This record gives sequence, C-alpha cells and structure tokens, in this order.
Amino acid sequence: MKLRYLPIEIVLLFLSSTAAFSQAKPAPGIPHLEKHGTATQLIVDGKPFLVLGAELNNSSASSLEYMRALWPRIAATNLNTVLATVSWELLEPEDGRFDFSLVDGVIEGARRYDLRLILLWFGSWKNGKSTYQPIWVKANQQRFPLVQDENGKGLPTLSTLSDANRDADSRAFAALMKHIREVDGEAHTVVMIQVENEVGVLGPSRDHSPAANQAFGGAVPKEFMNYLQEHKDALIPDLRKRWEAAGFKTSGSWEQVFGAGLETDEIFMAWNYARYVGHVAAAGKAEYPLPMFVNTWLRQGANKPNEDKPGGYPSGGPLAQVMDAWRAGGPAIDILSPDVHVPNYTDWCNWYTQSGNPLFIPESRGDARGVAQAIATAGKYDGIGYSPFGIDRLASPDSELAKGYQVLAQVAPLILERQGLGKLTAVLVDKDTQQSKVRLGDYTIEARFAARAQDPNAPVAAPVDQTAGLFIQLGPDDYVIVGRSMNVYFESATDPSQSVGLASVEEGQYVNGRWVPGRRLNGDEIPDWRALWFPGDRYTIQKIKLYRYR
Ligand code: DGJ
Repeated sequence: MKLRYLPIEIVLLFLSSTAAFSQAKPAPGIPHLEKHGTATQLIVDGKPFLVLGAELNNSSASSLEYMRALWPRIAATNLNTVLATVSWELLEPEDGRFDFSLVDGVIEGARRYDLRLILLWFGSWKNGKSTYQPIWVKANQQRFPLVQDENGKGLPTLSTLSDANRDADSRAFAALMKHIREVDGEAHTVVMIQVENEVGVLGPSRDHSPAANQAFGGAVPKEFMNYLQEHKDALIPDLRKRWEAAGFKTSGSWEQVFGAGLETDEIFMAWNYARYVGHVAAAGKAEYPLPMFVNTWLRQGANKPNEDKPGGYPSGGPLAQVMDAWRAGGPAIDILSPDVHVPNYTDWCNWYTQSGNPLFIPESRGDARGVAQAIATAGKYDGIGYSPFGIDRLASPDSELAKGYQVLAQVAPLILERQGLGKLTAVLVDKDTQQSKVRLGDYTIEARFAARAQDPNAPVAAPVDQTAGLFIQLGPDDYVIVGRSMNVYFESATDPSQSVGLASVEEGQYVNGRWVPGRRLNGDEIPDWRALWFPGDRYTIQKIKLYRYR
C-alpha cells in the first residue's frame, strides 16, 4: 500500500488500528522493522541491520564544510551509521519555502563513506525547549502559542495544545520525508528517523496555558480510556497502580482518573506530547514510512532529587512509566528510546524493553564502558543498535569505540541470525559485579571479571572497569564468545554430575563472514585447565567446542 497517496486522517486511522508499535508493513524495499522470533529487527535492503552508530554534535550537520573534515574520521571509527540533525529553522527558513541543500549534502557525504544515516528531526522541541523552530514561528506567539507556567508566564517551549504548532511542524516534517523518498527511496542511505528530541516540559510539571488548563480540567480522552481498559492487565505497573489507586474509573477528569499530583501532570503531558509527536510522525510516514523513534531525557535518580521529578526532567517525555500514554497517543511512533547518560545501564534496558518495545539507544557513552553497553544491547536485549553521543570528539581509529565496533561488526551477522531465538546472550561484568552467570543451550556460562588480564604479546593496557561477554550458540556444543578482561567457565545446565571440558579453543576473526582461525589455545592460555581467558587490552573472539565427562 502506498501510504503517501492517502489523506493524513486515513493514515492515522490505519496506523492506530494496527496495535501500537506494530510495524505496519511498508513497501518491501524501504527500511522497516520486522519481527524475528521475540526480537524486532531493522531491515535494510532486505537484510537485518545492526546499527553501530554514533551521533554528531548538535550543530555539525549545519555546515557541509565542517562535515567534509569529519567524514573520514568518522569512517575510520568503524561506524556503519551516523545520527545527524535536520533542523526546522534551516529546512524552512520562510513559511512554506524549503531548502533541502543540507539534507542532500549530508546524504551525499554519508554515501561517499559507505555510511547509513539516521536523521534527527529537531522540529518543535529539543531537550524540552523550542530553539530549532524558524524565526517566523518563534516570533509569532499569537499563531504559535507557548507553554505557560503556573503564573501565566510564557516559557520558550511550544505548547502541545495547539493545532497550529502541530500542523506547521507536521507540514515541514512531511516535506522532509517526501524529499528523502525522492532522493533516497532507492539507495536507502537513510534508515530511520528520530522525531523531535527529548521532549517534555522543563520547570513546571505541566503546561498551564489556557488551552492546557481547559484540557486538564476536562475528561481524559476516550481513546486513552479505551486503551487503558483494553490493555488493563498489560499496562506498565507505575501507571496501572495510579489508575488502580484512584479506583480504576472508566471516565472522568485527569485528577479523577489518576489522582492529583506531579505524576498525573506527567501522564497528562505524556498523552499530549504523544498526540502531537505521533501526528508529526504519521504525517511523515504518509510520505515515506521509515521506522521512527523518539528519544528520552531520563529521570536522574535519587541522588539528584530535583531532577528526578516531572519538570526537573522534561515532564511528558517518553519515560518508561508513561510508556502506555505514548503508545495510546502516538501509534505511528515505533520505538521509545532512552538516552542513557545516567548509571544503571541494564535497569534502563529492562525498563525500555517492557511490553515489546524494541531497544535502540540513540545517545550514551562512547568509551570502553560504551562498547560494553553496545555489546549488551545487541546480545542481551536483542537491540537494534547503539549510538554514543558526540562523535566529533570520539572519532579516531585508535579509540575504544573503533576497536569495539570492529569486533562487533565481525560477529554482527551471527548476532542478527540469532536475535529473538534464544541462541544468543551477553553479560556485563565490572568491579562491583565481578561474576555473572547465564544459561545458553544446555550450558551455564559464567564470566568472571579479571581487570588486569593481560596478553603477554600485547602492549600493557590500562585496566577497564566494565566489560561485556557475548555468547553465541552455533550448535549444541559449539559457541562463539567475544570477551575482554574475563575468564569464562562452563557447566552442564542439564546434568550436574557431568563435568564440561574444552574440546577445542581457537582465537580468530570473521573475515567477510568466514571464520579465519589464529592460534589454537591450550595450556597457560586456558585458566584452571577448563576456562577461556580473554585479555584486557581489547575484545577478542574465540570459537570453541565443548565436551562432557564424568
Ligand atoms: C542530550 C541531547 O539529546 C543531545 O542533543 C545533546 O544535547 C546531549 N544531551 C549533550 O550531552
């Protein structure tokens, strides 16, 4: 079905009638999301694709000259995808006049270096504020109203409660997607789109503009109430508890249905952002239905109490606790993504894989910890990919990122074949959690962190404080393991009376998908006569065969 020929209302209806995040099938050649077992994968040119990405600094893609010097450094960092800003003010400098030269230049640059792109639509909001809308929008608050605080003071943030705001943004975004289809509908350099950036109200916990106050005092919209009732037993626990505490009402004002408080303000804002951003996404998909995600400024945790409550972080953004409001309000959005600039990476991954949300990390760190996180994202959470923020600073062939991505790229085909099928997993170990056990196939695999494990033939490396082990099952007794700074032990998960031995251990590399063995490891390279040893200076790959004895 060619969505672009349909009126927006029909597209919205179509997208919302397929369950939220349901990946309504676009034309086969277009990059799209597809189920693979329990995983959701990004399909590019007919094949699953693991995003080994990184995000440019915010202003980099506003100058093709600046990018000219950066492209070769980026390419040397072994990424396959760059996340690049498209700003509304540069795309539509005058009302209705579009300039696509920067978009074209960025696409051309990426192609020259054999890179894919994820474009970030900096439209109405960026980090809870509105700074990327064109000046003809900024300066006309009569036509394009702002969020107001409790005292009626305007904040530099476009209000979600305005059709004019939403429609102007949607029109520009639709023009962008139409253009991408025209220039890239065959080549597929652009593989996904981020719609807006870290939305939500900063300062007050909700918009207090007259339109917002009226909506807040009015009934919770029927579409949201219906969603809550239909998904009652599958709702994210935080939201369900609030609804339950207020008596599981099936209609009423926001405070009647969810009780009064900051959390209810947040649910109200989440619904309104989801409606708006979902409408923008649907307008873009009507032109060219690439997978679309939104990214999240996360709550900061108990150590920063002021930034751990709605308004301290952008209230109404797609945080895990209001995921259901986003699903109900913005079904054209495929993925809710966390920007993990806070500790507890695995907690965030667990929260953001609730109720089938595919995991894609658009912003995080790009050091050795970042590489470990990238491996865990792909191997433990069946993620679509990973992208540290700020590649301008990180780009270098000697960086941890470059070396980590080089190894991940080798095993990406093995990962993608097995995601969602229970034949792949990963662990993170560090100085606090030194051991981690997982079951894969008929074996229990234990990784033991060894901060200083050093290869006698490698240059002395500074110890890393967190690493990942990636475990890929090739057959009943055959595994490929990627690791660093760790020893890896195997036990029988099916018969504890049996001991497990190593029949063979090869280190090596995948070259164009084919295993090229290096040393055959034994003796001192096999700790305790039965474990794998991964040195601390870099990630290495070992291909092993196990046997059992009594
Ligand atoms: C989060 C934002 O989403 C990015 O655009 C960027 O501003 C980073 N913060 C900076 O760390």
